[in-house]
Amino acid sequence: MKPIILDVDTGVDDALAIAYAVHSPELSLIGVTTCFGNIPVADASRNSLAVLEVLGADVPVIQGAAETLVRGEKSRYSRHVHGENGIGNVELAQPIKSILPEMHAVDYLIEQIYKIPHELTIVAVGPLTNIALAIQKDANIIPLIKEIIIMGGAVNVPGNVTPYGEANIVADPEAAAIVFSSGANVILVGLDVTLQTLLPRAEIKEWQQSNEQATALLGKMTDFYIGAYEQLYPGIGGCALHDPLAIGVAINSSFVTTERMDITVVTEGEKTGQTIGVPSPSATVQVCVTVDHVAFVQHFLERIS
Ligand code: BDR
Ligand code: CA
Repeated sequence: MKPIILDVDTGVDDALAIAYAVHSPELSLIGVTTCFGNIPVADASRNSLAVLEVLGADVPVIQGAAETLVRGEKSRYSRHVHGENGIGNVELAQPIKSILPEMHAVDYLIEQIYKIPHELTIVAVGPLTNIALAIQKDANIIPLIKEIIIMGGAVNVPGNVTPYGEANIVADPEAAAIVFSSGANVILVGLDVTLQTLLPRAEIKEWQQSNEQATALLGKMTDFYIGAYEQLYPGIGGCALHDPLAIGVAINSSFVTTERMDITVVTEGEKTGQTIGVPSPSATVQVCVTVDHVAFVQHFLERIS
């Protein structure tokens, strides 16, 4: 079993990624760290706790960054895509557990990396603020992280929140720049591949009718998310499985093919958040360039439904 920490801004597709990880015996989800992003960080923590409880998973949630490295608090959250509460306006029971008290996600990440050197996979599916802060606090962790699988960026395709930038990178471009240039072993799962992984509405109908409470609730959340996708991309007929694909890559890297690239993040002007990739065989960032979307979506569905 591969030990992973999932860094999230929960979010409907983050919730799906949590469920996919919990249902995958190849992975051992040792902790969930939270960041602002789709919603404020306190809401991301509450949603993560509530989703884990619905799934019956006993995994600690550790709260992290409330704002960007240098730009202050995010000016606008993604409630139009993920709902007012971040999880498609589905009301989950108030979580019984609370976030790990008196510990910040950054310190938790550093502690866990030292606990199992060279073994820990970090799957980061929100802004990269927590990871950048951990690297800034203790650069000695960099070679001790097995890999950081990141949902973020748009290297050879347009962005989704601007014509150039993808949401997680635009949310904190300076943090992303620190992580990509750190020398850490990074796998970048960007819009280049995630926009090909469409979950059709028909599948969600089945989930909503499921006797399993967790599946039915995930179905309701995803129904809202698909509605948002249909408004943003008329005729698309589904939603992109952005964050679940990062978990898919952690389970089975052959879902994708990659190319090593040096990645620069634009931090000024209208292209802020753009990820520019220059192929280089010695680069530490592997950019996902193709995906077997049929095999991945099928695998995801088998694990969730
Ligand atoms: C990413 O942005 C967020 O809205 C999603 O949860 C995903 O992590 C997609 O661009
Ligand atoms: Ca996310």
